[in-house]
Amino acid sequence: MSSERSAIILAAGLGTRMKSSQPKVLHELLGRSLLGHVLRAVKSTGPGRQIVVVGAAADQVRAHLDEVAPETEAVFQDKQLGTGHAVQVAMEAVPDLAGTVIVAAGDTPLLRPETLAELAEVHEKSGNAATVLTAVVADPTGLGRIVRDAEGSVLRIVEHRDADAGERAIREVNSAIYAFDAGLLREQLGKLNSANDQGELYLTDVLELAREAGHAIGAVVVEDPTEVLGCNDRAQLAGLRRILQTRINSELMRSGVTMEDPETTWIDATVKVAPDVLIHPGVQLKGATAVDSGAEIGPDTTLTDTIVGARAEVVRSHADQATIGEGAHVGPFAHLRPASKLAEKAKVGAFVETKNAEIGPGAKANHLAYLGDATVGADANIGCGVITANYDGVHKHRTEIGEGAFIGCDSVLVAPVSIGDGAYVAAGSTIVKDVEPGDLGVARARQASLEDWVAKKRPGTVSDRAAKRAKGETEVSGA
Ligand code: UD1
Ligand code: CA
Repeated sequence: MSSERSAIILAAGLGTRMKSSQPKVLHELLGRSLLGHVLRAVKSTGPGRQIVVVGAAADQVRAHLDEVAPETEAVFQDKQLGTGHAVQVAMEAVPDLAGTVIVAAGDTPLLRPETLAELAEVHEKSGNAATVLTAVVADPTGLGRIVRDAEGSVLRIVEHRDADAGERAIREVNSAIYAFDAGLLREQLGKLNSANDQGELYLTDVLELAREAGHAIGAVVVEDPTEVLGCNDRAQLAGLRRILQTRINSELMRSGVTMEDPETTWIDATVKVAPDVLIHPGVQLKGATAVDSGAEIGPDTTLTDTIVGARAEVVRSHADQATIGEGAHVGPFAHLRPASKLAEKAKVGAFVETKNAEIGPGAKANHLAYLGDATVGADANIGCGVITANYDGVHKHRTEIGEGAFIGCDSVLVAPVSIGDGAYVAAGSTIVKDVEPGDLGVARARQASLEDWVAKKRPGTVSDRAAKRAKGETEVSGA
């Protein structure tokens, strides 16, 4: 018996009931495509070769595989003549497969890697020709049933539409996940026929054929039947998402993460959260996001591909491809766009937007600012309403703000421009020339007052009366 393993993943169907322009297996589920989840489980069995059978929207599926699983080989099934035909096509494309062949459907994303590894091990120890993963479910409608004899040995699998009333009462169902002996699989595949209700070549028939040829077949019953749930429409997709959310959140909470409301906390399977992170309600953590220990996220915050340092706080904010340093503070209502890098203890507050901006250690932009294509030095203070005017309509330009600089409120820094270390910019300035270290840049009209303008131009108004009272020109009423 060879310890060699390979895998065939069936993904040629369109998944008509998804009512989608996208093939079913590419639909997203907490950070990976349905197919991506299956491939991850399959990979854990250490397959030498991984063959994905593609058909409907093959170009889209191939492009996705190139991106997320370049180690796989796509094999094209022109017409979807059944699961047995799909495996035939794969085996013909790779005629030298030997040892164990794992077969899985591309739309069972909740399958745990450990379960698949166990299936492979049980199969190899037993010397079976075929071992099928099964589940006992409350409602088996539509699924293949596992028919056993009085001793409990597996006899065959019968599809729902081909089953009689007695067989339909069976609640043990086929997951469409199997381990086969490659040589014996090839032998039985050659004997398949389409004498069934759908007129298809059924992979399930391989089991009965192998048994009739004198080989052993068996089954592994999965402990948690949610692992083998398939996905046929978007309502089922939402159901799978809820199950996976519960699984991910439970694991994280057991590993030391506090979640005030796991029901409204959505964390992708790809995200890393360290112990002692506190997550408030309404948080989404997506993609390659990683949150370090002691950080506090939420409420109502979405972080995509964002790195959050230890003890940082992110409150009611939105970040994409950002880096938030240790002890930094973000929000409420901040928007960190790609390539925003906040160093340790930096502060970005309410209605501040950053993009391609490096905010130095301890630097602050506490309210209402736009920092794009900018570098802000350590401990600099960015006043309320400051804007880096980074775009001239054609090109983007950089603004450099030095260490300890102070940018007064409502200033526009027209890039490319640089404010030196320790320099000040007066409130309301429009800065178009560099300000040297330690200088004050002022760029606003001088103030003038027109004496007694109100008495002359707005006599008898509320302003006029108030001014007169202030100057002691009339009696203050009620005094
Ligand atoms: C299959 C099983 C059924 C099991 C169920 C679990 C068979 C005959 N039946 O039924 O016992 O309970 O899965 O979900 O195998 N595919 C191809 N090429 C084809 C046909 C299918 O690649 O020609 C792929 C599909 O894209 C899908 C998978 O194989 O990923 C399963 O095919 P599907 O038609 O959904 O089989 P079911 O009727 O669900
Ligand atoms: Ca199916």
